[in-house]
Amino acid sequence: MAKEQQYQKVANKKDLKEGGLLKIEPNGKSIVLAMVNGNVYAMDSICSHEGGPLEEGTLEGYNLTCPWHYAVFDIRNATVSDATVWATELTSYLVKIEETTDDILIDLQGENKLQQQ
Ligand code: FES
Repeated sequence: MAKEQQYQKVANKKDLKEGGLLKIEPNGKSIVLAMVNGNVYAMDSICSHEGGPLEEGTLEGYNLTCPWHYAVFDIRNATVSDATVWATELTSYLVKIEETTDDILIDLQGENKLQQQ
């Protein structure tokens, strides 16, 4: 049975700028939001290698590079680049934008594998 989706407001689109990163901590989880081409993505913010703060990393296109030892994650699905296998895949989350308010909602239950291409 599919897990129930539970969207929770975590920020507003105006808190983020194009190519920008923002750390949020809903329910004590550390998550980083990223905006690329006007779309918002959400994934775990603690690097799976040695715990680097990914919200302080570098975002180029969809690639988020850890500031500590430069593992590269795809912010759409939290997978690790084949070139930086010292880190392992993290969790990404479904994001919804409230049309009228531009509030950013994320589903803390849901792993976002839908946009994996
Ligand atoms: S802590 Fe992120 S690559 Fe080492």
